[in-house]
Amino acid sequence: MKFSTLAVLSGLAASTFATPTPPTHVVHEKREHQLNKWSRRSVKLNRDAVIPMSIGLTQSNLDQGYEFLMDVSHPESQNYGKHWSMQKIKETFAPSPATIEAVKSWLIESGIEQERHKLSNSLSWIRFNVTVEEAESLLKTEYSIYENTNTGKEHLACEDYSVPAHIQEHIDFITPTIHFDATVKKEKKTRDLQTRAMKVKPTKLIMPGPDTVPQPEVKYTLANCYEYITPDCLRALYNFTNGTLAQSSYGIVEYTPQAYLQSDLNLFYSNLQRQIASGTAPTIDLIDGATVQTSTQSFDDNGESDLDLQYAIALVYPQKVTLYQTGDAVEGASFNNLLDALDASYCTSGGGDNPTYDAIYPDTASGGYKGAENCGTITPASVISTSYGYNEADLPAAYEVRQCNEYMKLGLAGTSVLYSSGDYGVAGNGGECCTAAKCVGGTYNSGSSGTFNPAFPATCPYITSVGATQVKPNTAVTATNPEEACETVIYSGGGFSNVFAIPSYQASAVATYFSAHKPTYTATQYNNSQTVRGYPDVAANGANYVVAVDGSLSLVYGTSASSPVFGSIITLINEQRVAAGKAAVGFLNPTLYANPSAFTDIISGGNQGCGTNGFTAVAGWDPVTGLGTPNYPKLLAVFLALS
Ligand SMILES: *[C@@H]1O[C@H](CO)[C@@H](O)[C@H](O)[C@H]1NC(C)=O
Ligand SMILES: *[C@@H]1O[C@H](CO)[C@@H](O)[C@H](O)[C@H]1NC(C)=O
Ligand SMILES: *[C@@H]1O[C@H](CO)[C@@H](O)[C@H](O)[C@H]1NC(C)=O
Ligand SMILES: *[C@@H]1O[C@H](CO)[C@@H](O)[C@H](O)[C@H]1NC(C)=O
Repeated sequence: MKFSTLAVLSGLAASTFATPTPPTHVVHEKREHQLNKWSRRSVKLNRDAVIPMSIGLTQSNLDQGYEFLMDVSHPESQNYGKHWSMQKIKETFAPSPATIEAVKSWLIESGIEQERHKLSNSLSWIRFNVTVEEAESLLKTEYSIYENTNTGKEHLACEDYSVPAHIQEHIDFITPTIHFDATVKKEKKTRDLQTRAMKVKPTKLIMPGPDTVPQPEVKYTLANCYEYITPDCLRALYNFTNGTLAQSSYGIVEYTPQAYLQSDLNLFYSNLQRQIASGTAPTIDLIDGATVQTSTQSFDDNGESDLDLQYAIALVYPQKVTLYQTGDAVEGASFNNLLDALDASYCTSGGGDNPTYDAIYPDTASGGYKGAENCGTITPASVISTSYGYNEADLPAAYEVRQCNEYMKLGLAGTSVLYSSGDYGVAGNGGECCTAAKCVGGTYNSGSSGTFNPAFPATCPYITSVGATQVKPNTAVTATNPEEACETVIYSGGGFSNVFAIPSYQASAVATYFSAHKPTYTATQYNNSQTVRGYPDVAANGANYVVAVDGSLSLVYGTSASSPVFGSIITLINEQRVAAGKAAVGFLNPTLYANPSAFTDIISGGNQGCGTNGFTAVAGWDPVTGLGTPNYPKLLAVFLALS
């Protein structure tokens, strides 16, 4: 009421001829599904109660992010390698003065006086206290008390809210509105943790324990890499040697409670990488109350971290590997929590966390870490590899776009961000497929039919997505002998996004794929419009890794292995560039797609799922193994030739 009266008055003041019309409100956010743990209570709200309200402002210049990133990472750009400082990134994307002004004016016209507004230091939030009555009038909504049916905890929320049409572009989101607090997230967390972890499966135990493990030269040779992958097999496959200069940086991300065991690293070194001294550990950055826990030990607790760290440490040795151990033992963490630690402007901006999906620290609700969340406290490494992932359909598209833009900023800062592409072929985590067209709604079946279920962040165009290959049976490993798509235990995640448009760096590779090898599937299975992002970008071996886990050597499978191996090769290239006085390579994809001959093309095998054979690895880029596996000397020559 108050709002439209004031708007009419100011409209009259501006022009005596204009017919005053109240601004049209448009719905800004609406709850998509009712969360079944919360019930709306019918009790009357005290409409004089005061609540703290926060408006997340829209960042500037995001529409130019792609071009900014190409400017520093396209091989033909004059500015290749001239990465931006975090300060320049912050200033470029901070909300514009016009945005701040538009939102403040709207508040003032709505009766929330200037003196009540507080602008955050990052300029990304406007905060103020309002009565429930004022909030309802401002947002054309109705608040209710919702009760958590498990805990009895109460929460103030609404079903949807509206803002004037001309304000919408300036606002990311407003709290408290449709979002629930951390209690909901903790319940979701259990599900998230299951779906998030790429499954790496121990299918057979090679030997019972360290005392009886045979000497590597007896058991593991280059002749049996098709049965047992070791660091030496990977060096032979991709034609690289160990590091020497120790001048670059490489981060491996792990999410608590998953953790490595030093005893497993030592066991791995003594069997497979004997020049590395027992006790050699990663440099550890603990994020948001994380611990490298040793209290529960099992393949699920230790398999992922042991695999990632053993191979990263061995392949870049004597360079150091940094472990980003993220999240406490109670709340855990999401990719946004890591991004908050790497970029201070993200944790405070309207583009940041959503308590439904991200852990909120300090954790006052669930008895976890009570300290402040890590916010810009970690300097991003030159290469960051993560072997965890979601289904694209697990998360709202707007949330994914915000997070993906953050990877764009890391690319601008000179970091190569790598994610494994998933282990279930065209299906999603756990082999599940979508029940609805375009995977809308995030409901899944058991995977014998349905719509292909792409992975996130694999489909974000600002990361490098790494798929999996395997050595052909009874084949010697050499850099000239192509592998095939991985079909042992796991299938390389690949396909096409339902959220992200095709980036230009990939357009010609994808067009060639469709013109020469058009799949027979229809739009029922996947988005075949040729206008969406295809993944993975590249591949590396993902089968039969010898890994020390919980005191013995196991065989492990997954794109979980492929990503840290590809990241190690990029780290060795960075080391050479640094030695030549050049910057780290940063965002990789434009250079990779411009130089397909630096890869060994993979042309056999497929990535079955959802009751189909999936896609097939063919000549050129394909949605199974991307451009293929790296040829280190060729890739090194490509990157060393750039400024
Ligand atoms: C809102 O009120 C609380 C409690 O009085 C106060 O601590 C807080 O600073 C106020 N917030 C703003 C933005 O004025
Ligand atoms: C590189 O590896 C070889 C054995 O493969 C080893 O002899 C050499 O010491 C290593 N170099 C460094 C710097 O660790
Ligand atoms: C491996 O790389 C070296 C250069 O470092 C090259 O001379 C050799 O031919 C390569 N081997 C194969 C099998 O491509
Ligand atoms: C495929 O993606 C494009 C671009 O986002 C979209 O316009 C189109 O509707 C999608 N098609 C299907 C069948 O999902």
